[in-house]
Amino acid sequence: MRLVLLGPPGAGKGTQAKLLAEQFRVPQVSSGDLLREAVQRETPLGLEAKGFMERGELVPDEVLLGAIEERLAAADCYQGFILDGFPRTIAQAEALCKLLGAGKLRLDSVVSMRVPEPTLVSRLSGRRTCRNCGALYHVEFNPPRQAEVCNRCGSDLFQREDDREETIRARLQVYARQTAPLLDWYRERGRLAEIDGLGDRSEVFSRIVTCVETRG
Ligand code: AP5
Repeated sequence: MRLVLLGPPGAGKGTQAKLLAEQFRVPQVSSGDLLREAVQRETPLGLEAKGFMERGELVPDEVLLGAIEERLAAADCYQGFILDGFPRTIAQAEALCKLLGAGKLRLDSVVSMRVPEPTLVSRLSGRRTCRNCGALYHVEFNPPRQAEVCNRCGSDLFQREDDREETIRARLQVYARQTAPLLDWYRERGRLAEIDGLGDRSEVFSRIVTCVETRG
C-alpha cells in the first residue's frame, strides 16, 4: 500500500493517515511531524526549517528532500506507507516518482480531500495534539475526556505554533498557490481520486478506503 493523502491544512490528512496506517499495517509518513520533531530536537534540518514553518511557508526542497528519501528507505516502509503532507509541489511529486521508480515501485493511490475554507479554519484553530503520542483532538469536534490531557497516554496536549489565525491564513494561501496545481498534475496522469472531506471521521475514512480498493 503506497498512498498519498492530499488536501489543504486542516483537511484531516493526519487524522486519516493514522487510521489508514492501522488498517493497512504500514507506517504514516508525515513530513510535518518529521520536521516538527527535527525542530524540537534542534537538528540541522530543524534549525533550517523552523523559520519557514513559523511563517507558514514551505520548507525548501534542498532542506527537506534528503530527510524524506531517508525516511522512505527505512525498513518499515518496504511494505508501503501512507504519505501525509508530502508531496506538496510538482517538483516534490517528480522527486517522489523518481525515487519510487528507482526501486521499480509506484504509488497505488493519490487521494485528495475537499473541505471548505471556513471549516478548515475552525478545525485548525481548535486542534490539540498529544505531546507524547501525537494523538489528535479538537476542542469542539473531538474533545479529550479531560481538558488538555490525552485519552490514550495521559500526557499534555498542546496547540501547534502555526495554528494561530494569521499563520493559518498564510498556510491556506501557500496551499492555493503551490500545492493545488499538484491536483491537476496527478489528475492528468489518471492517478487522482477526490473525496468529500466533510462529515464524521469514520465516514471520511470509509470514502478513502473505497477509493483505495476500487483503484487497487
Ligand atoms: P503539516 O504538518 O503537513 O501541516 P498541514 O498540511 O498544514 O496539515 P495539518 O497537519 O495542519 O492538517 P491535516 O490535514 O493533517 O489535519 P488534521 O488531521 O490534523 O505541515 C506543517 C508545516 O511543515 C508546513 O506549513 C511547512 O512549513 C512544513 N512542511 C510540511 N510538509 C512539507 C513539504 N512537503 N514541503 C515543504 N514544507 C513542508 O485535522 C485538523 C483538525 O481537524 C484536528 O483537530 C482534527 O481532530 C480535526 N478533524 C479532522 N478530521 C475531522 C472531521 N472529519 N470532522 C471534524 N474534525 C476533524
